[in-house]
Amino acid sequence: MLRLDNNAAFLHQVETKIYKAEYRGSYSTVEKCPEAAIPEFAFVGRSNCGKSSLINYLCSNPKLAHVSSTPGKTQSINYFLVNERWFWVDLPGYGYAKRSKTQREAWDKMLKSYISKRKQLAYIFQLVDSRIPPQKNDLEMISYYGEADLPFVIVFTKADKPNSPEIRKNINSWKEQLAKDWEELPPMMLSSSSQNRGKEQIYEFVSAQIGEIEKIIEKRLEKRQ
Ligand code: GTP
Ligand code: MG
Repeated sequence: MLRLDNNAAFLHQVETKIYKAEYRGSYSTVEKCPEAAIPEFAFVGRSNCGKSSLINYLCSNPKLAHVSSTPGKTQSINYFLVNERWFWVDLPGYGYAKRSKTQREAWDKMLKSYISKRKQLAYIFQLVDSRIPPQKNDLEMISYYGEADLPFVIVFTKADKPNSPEIRKNINSWKEQLAKDWEELPPMMLSSSSQNRGKEQIYEFVSAQIGEIEKIIEKRLEKRQ
């Protein structure tokens, strides 16, 4: 998918402040998602890893996306327009054992179909809980990105105590796991929605890429017509 030149992208305007973030709708299939040529950053991860909470923290609005301590809260594809320039897309989590097999399969299908078909998808933010070691289903998702050539970033969530030995150990373990399959490690960031950490790094990343991404998405959609 996207291959971006970081140095060139830095020439574009840096946009680190949120002046507007609004809910734009929830969709049950990728075919129903908005048609506009607006780049999308998708939040993907296991159920309960903190996807919706991170979107709320990034938008400084605790009520924007639905959050719950019970896994399986997000059940559709949810769009949040930021600065009228890009979407954060909140998706259902995977790996929630307590749901029926049929329900889990339906969510997995929605997620995979969005990821594989969506032309506006610019980057995947793969969220992983920093307090637990790498999980099999997370590693499988990441292998899938490799096969499908999808650009992704890893965000270590719930890093309320970012320097704790446990979190350092888990991050090192992630690096070791990824080094087995990837010549170059993906960008990695730490966040804590409850302690308000990590926002700047995420916005700097998006700001550095957004100008270039907009052009790529425009071109991709032109081909569609
Ligand atoms: P699904 O929609 O079910 O897939 O979950 P999700 O990944 O969207 O997680 P959600 O944001 O709903 O958060 C799940 C739980 O984790 C909630 O109880 C949150 O309060 C908690 N949580 C989220 N972020 C953080 C964080 O940074 N630190 C801590 N300590 N808890 C967090
Ligand atoms: Mg959610």
